[in-house]
Amino acid sequence: MEKAQAYIRIQELREVLREANRQYYVENSPTLSDYEFDMLLKELEALEKEYPEFMSPDSPTQHVGSDIKKEFEQFPHRYPMLSLGNTYDISEVQAFADRATKGIGNSFTYSCELKFDGTAICLTYRNGRLFRALTRGDGTVGDDVTRNVRHISNIPQQLSVPQGFTPTAQRPHPWPDEFEIRGEIYMPWSAFDRLNEERLKDEEQPFANPRNAASGSLKLIDSRQVANRGLECTLYHMLGENLPFTTHDQALKAASDWGLPVSDKRRICRSIEEIEEFINHWDTERKNLPYATDGIVIKVNELPYQEELGYTSKFPRWAVAYKFKAEQALTKLISIDYQVGRTGAVTPVANLEPVQLSGTIVKRASLHNADQMEQLDIHIGDYVYVEKGGEIIPKITGVELSQRGADVTLPHFPAFCPDCGTALIKDEEEAKSFCPNQTGCPTQIKGRLVHFLSRKAMNVIAGDATVDQLFNKALVWNVADFYDLTKELLLTLEGWKERSAERFLKSLQESRKVGFDRVLFALGIRYVGETTARSVARHFGNIDAIMNATKEELLNVDDVGEVIAESIFEFFSEEANRDIVSRLKEAGLRFEADAAPEQLSAELEGKTIVISGNFSISRDEMKALIAANGGKNSGSISGKTSFLLAGEKAGPEKLKKAEALGVSIISEEEFRQMIGSAAEQEHMTEPVDGEQLSLF
Ligand code: IVH
Repeated sequence: MEKAQAYIRIQELREVLREANRQYYVENSPTLSDYEFDMLLKELEALEKEYPEFMSPDSPTQHVGSDIKKEFEQFPHRYPMLSLGNTYDISEVQAFADRATKGIGNSFTYSCELKFDGTAICLTYRNGRLFRALTRGDGTVGDDVTRNVRHISNIPQQLSVPQGFTPTAQRPHPWPDEFEIRGEIYMPWSAFDRLNEERLKDEEQPFANPRNAASGSLKLIDSRQVANRGLECTLYHMLGENLPFTTHDQALKAASDWGLPVSDKRRICRSIEEIEEFINHWDTERKNLPYATDGIVIKVNELPYQEELGYTSKFPRWAVAYKFKAEQALTKLISIDYQVGRTGAVTPVANLEPVQLSGTIVKRASLHNADQMEQLDIHIGDYVYVEKGGEIIPKITGVELSQRGADVTLPHFPAFCPDCGTALIKDEEEAKSFCPNQTGCPTQIKGRLVHFLSRKAMNVIAGDATVDQLFNKALVWNVADFYDLTKELLLTLEGWKERSAERFLKSLQESRKVGFDRVLFALGIRYVGETTARSVARHFGNIDAIMNATKEELLNVDDVGEVIAESIFEFFSEEANRDIVSRLKEAGLRFEADAAPEQLSAELEGKTIVISGNFSISRDEMKALIAANGGKNSGSISGKTSFLLAGEKAGPEKLKKAEALGVSIISEEEFRQMIGSAAEQEHMTEPVDGEQLSLF
């Protein structure tokens, strides 16, 4: 490669890897598979080695990705929290062993352990009590998640004395006054499946894998919610001053004696053959584990040797990770169902010969859409590869053509809705087929009714069976019909008694108190999940403002992009939907947000303000602060904009436009001074535009 080309490729790789790191650590929504990431990283490493003149200390090869979130307090790590060098190839494990032997001779052993696929945690115990829990952060400082970690049931708040110990006996290993123990917080498959099922029901994006679910859950702001997420912890690395152990294995055994969760799935190996045996054993057996593992970690067991080998800026030289390729299973495709969802999307779902995968038996798998079926050239009767992805049902990733029989048949994606027979329409952008018969397709109607009553929406005690009964008897056709139901009508349903009818009506009565944001979510507007509904409700304050909003106005809301704005706009353009809203209003549901926040000042009266970037508070809170001081928020900069309030990582386009139009740009600090002083000194009337402004 030419030097100039190498330079361009290096820049390109760094950018891709930095963004991938951000998606992985901050958004908990990876864009690259581990394998793809590792391969790009290796390419970058090789290029930087070949062209050391292009080396840069901030290259992704030089430090671990950062998971720092501004909502948490940060503390420095006493010992840097590093990552592990990794490989997918046993010959590189051999190379690791050779390097170690060269450094420390050949009288050492290896501790081979499972590589838990979660998020790293560092626990400090002081005098036997859990003192602090930090995430890895950027390796130097971590986020303080102690409050959340206290809700993880297998992490002891207080270490316990080994069984059989009496106060007069000698403890095998007293715990040091202070020590750190590092490990992984992970989400077992069962908790992960449960969580994603709930998220899908609520039209929230499911987590891509248990690791992202674990790190997302560990960083929840409301620590009580953490307790419901089913997180667990395993610990694998003890650190401290003058620890009384000579091997890593002894340290882990002691930790286990003190009540700390340490995996027993580890083995001391003496040769590369034994390591390979351990790897091969777990590459198969991991499918039966109740949690995700993505490889094996091989560590030099003797602590003085670990010290001798030391660390690079990113990894210990005394350990390496061997990573497994994504777990797959091969099985036969029996048939394909075409399912209609409550939004009308028709999804092909494969029925498979049951097969074991990642701890569960898989019988069904997603095929996504017609394009994917075509790309895979999938035939009924084929042998197909299934992988567990983010969705609750696994996905089909390939077809084993070498096993294709003569009797396979080509599936045909239906042209008509399998439920109501309406001609399907294809959304090219999403490559999905939709049944457009929103108001007449039974599955869509019932789906919307079930969603409306669901726990996170109107929270009415009723199951799918009730909705089926009501719909089949033509008592309920749309969500507003629920509020016309009477006890007499309900008693006409099979199996209903006075008590069940009263309970149902009482629950409907209670639902009239449900807040506006949840009512908006309950309407079942495509792409409007719980979070979006909350932002939209807060932004507009009442349903009339939303129903009359233009697409541009909808785009001003946080979390609302083109697709969501279009969907909300379309929804309220339908006369039938406006009708439903007005009937629900009459029924007494809440269509107004809680009282507007207190007016703090009129300092921003008459000012139109555009915000961009991140602030010390959420963007919604910032917008509320502007409104509370009399200002008006706007999404785009024009000649009428009073100023651009630019936070960290403000959009370059917005900054450029503001400059071009001569619109002032102010920082959060300046803004706070402006409204802060306004609140304190009522005589301060200097115009905002005339103030000293800074560009950053
Ligand atoms: S030892 C100095 N042991 O994998 C680093 N790490 O991809 C010592 N991990 O950062 C780490 N299981 O978060 C170690 N048994 C295990 C592990 C393990 C999972 C994680 C850890 C590490 C990452 C590297």
